[in-house]
Order: sequence, then C-alpha cells, then structure tokens
Amino acid sequence: MLKFDFETYNENFIKKSDLSSYKDKQKKIKLDFLSGDLSQWLSTKTYISEKELKDIKSTAKKIRDICDVFVVIGIGGSYMGAKAVISALEKKNRPRKPEIIFFGNSINAMDYRETLDYIKNKDICVNVISKSGTTLEPSLAFDAVMELMEKKYSESELKDRVFVTTDANKGTLRELVNKKGYKSFVVPDNVGGRYSVLTPVGLLPIAVAGIRIEELLIGAEEAIKNELDDAIKYATIRDILDKKGKSIESYTIYNKRLYYFTEWLKQLFAETQGKDGKGIFPVSNINSRDLHSMGQFLQEGKNIIFETVIGVNDEDDFTVGKYNLNRLNDIALTSVAQAHKNGYTPSSIIWINRIDEKYLGELIQFFFMSAIAGGKLLDINPFDQPGVEEYKKLIKSNL
Ligand code: PA5
Repeated sequence: MLKFDFETYNENFIKKSDLSSYKDKQKKIKLDFLSGDLSQWLSTKTYISEKELKDIKSTAKKIRDICDVFVVIGIGGSYMGAKAVISALEKKNRPRKPEIIFFGNSINAMDYRETLDYIKNKDICVNVISKSGTTLEPSLAFDAVMELMEKKYSESELKDRVFVTTDANKGTLRELVNKKGYKSFVVPDNVGGRYSVLTPVGLLPIAVAGIRIEELLIGAEEAIKNELDDAIKYATIRDILDKKGKSIESYTIYNKRLYYFTEWLKQLFAETQGKDGKGIFPVSNINSRDLHSMGQFLQEGKNIIFETVIGVNDEDDFTVGKYNLNRLNDIALTSVAQAHKNGYTPSSIIWINRIDEKYLGELIQFFFMSAIAGGKLLDINPFDQPGVEEYKKLIKSNL
C-alpha cells in the first residue's frame, strides 16, 4: 500500500479549518466516485477486459519472438504512460529485446533521419497508437515507418508486424485496419489519452517490454480499494495551496527511474486541470541533482511553489564507507522537505516500498482519482482538452 505523509511538511501552510471547510465537497466527490458519474473510474474493467488482456499477452509474445525493434508511435496520452512504466522498470545493464523505440512525438527532421536510419537494417514491428487517428505527428511518423517497412516486407509479413491501437469504429487508422487486415486494439470510448495507460494503449508496449501487466492492474485495484479517500485529500491539499497563491507544483523524486513517471504526471495534471484560466502548473525535480539548482528557488524564491514527493523505501542496497545509500537517500528526502518547509515550500510525501509493477499501478490509479477529484474541485471538466485540440486544428489549417 502507498503511504502518505500529508501532514508533517504542510503544517505551517494548511490549517485544520482549511481542510474542514472542504468536508461537503469531499463527500459529494466521493459519492460521485462510488455511485455517480465517476464510478467507471473505480473498476479496472473500464480499462481492459480479460479477453483483451489475453490477446495483448499473446500478441506481445509473438512480437518479442520476431522483432529486434518495436517502434511505438504516438503522442501525449498515446505514449507517455507506457514510456513512464517501461523506463521505471528498465535496468541499465540489461538491454531489452526487442528494443522499444518511442517515435512520432516530434516533427524534427534529425529525429526522423536518425531513427529511420537506426531501424532500417533491423527486424521491425510497429504499433501506431492514436485515438482520433488524425493527429499530425503520429500520422507522419507512421507514414515514414511504413514506407520503410513496405520496402522490406511483403503484404502478408506486414500483417505480423503492424499493430494499430485506435477507436473501435471511426478514424483513418480504423479504415486502414479494415482495408489491410492489420491486427488492432481498441482505445475504449470513455477513456481519454492521458487516462489510457492501463488500456491496450499502454498495456501492449508494456507487455512487449516483458513487464507483468496483470500486476499493474492488481496495483490499480489496490488503490481503488484503499486510496480513494487519500486521493480526494491530496486533491484538497492541492486546491487549498493553489488558493493560497501556490500555483506551481513540483513532482520531486530521488530515483531517476521515476523521471518519465513525473513527465506522465505533468501531462495528467496539466491537461486535466489547466483550463478556464485555472489549474496548477506542474514541473518536476530530480534530486539530489536539482537541489543544486532549482533547490535554491524552492527554498528562498518567489512564494508560489509546493512539492509532491515520491519516496522509495527499499531501493537496491549499496554501501559507501559507513553509509547505506538507501537509508541516506531517505534522510536526504526528509531533510530537504524539512528545509523547504522552513522556507516557502510545503511538501506532501507519497512513499512506495519499491519500484515494481504493483506499486506503479497503485500510483497510476491514485493519481487518476486525484486528478479527477481536483478537476471537480476546480469546477472544470477533467476529461476534455480543448486547448490541445486548438493547436491541432491550427497546425492543420496552416499546412
Ligand atoms: O490526453 C489526451 O487526450 C491527449 O494527450 C492525446 O492523447 C494526444 O493528443 C494524442 O491524441 P490521439 O491519440 O488522438 O492521437
């Protein structure tokens, strides 16, 4: 189970009366989750069925058997969750087969030239992921990879190597699947990109990486069972601090493996809550590195930031002289929180025991619930992203 410390390092900043004034709102949000219009988020069945899970696992095995590189094409919610989980569980000295390459999240010529050059003489499988099927960046990347693959493979070989994750019925990618007979997976209708890591969007690439996807779902179930109240409380703390002028939240970590997890968090909260002139601007810090740069601002700079820290209790054991680094890193975390509290920056700490599938699933579901609850507290729609759609429209009309 996750362990929360919402008290120790927030105490100078949040009064008991601040919290108690949210009681009615919290009750209403909880009811909406338990029996109202948010109840779909309290079941992992919303993300994936047993049948799809089996299909993903057997497809992942086939991909692992035939490919050197697995190119995952998608942008925003269509790739950030998978990237977060895969890199959290990556071991530096144990290369993966197939190598997983995330592509289609830029329109940078050098990125294209280097990636295509790198994969061209390898055995390639590709998974293009786009709910709408019309987003420019992944569409371009898919065209480029397909141009290369069509030169290497016959039509029937392509059927073993091209995987499409998109809407069940509509969009150009679905039309392509219908025309060419490529293997496809469905992005559930009621789950938007940034909430899709536990659907086929995230689970296929994660399974190809050899990660135990059922364990992620078990972790999510755990959070549903045990952490709804804490998710609402965390959303409340963020809202109180926001109203006190703290409009920037730093997701702070002490383990580099969680770097892309903080990138995913930034997406989840920015896209969910940054609308109608509201929301908290998310940033991230990796310590100890950033204690020697951003740390100065967090301690003494403009009074606009609060931190959410993810701590890992039991990391690999390593001793230098008389110091156990695992314990030392935890002491650094709490000492920094103490120092920041003595300055301008309060912290909430979320502890996990280790970085594994179960804890990652639990964190993912905890943050889903709190992002949605936070959206409700702000009185905005947590499920749309009109600002993102705006740039997509403009870029197309300017082409
Ligand atoms: O969270 C979201 O909805 C977005 O980040 C989308 O995932 C992103 O814009 C990509 O959209 P699509 O999957 O339609 O290509």
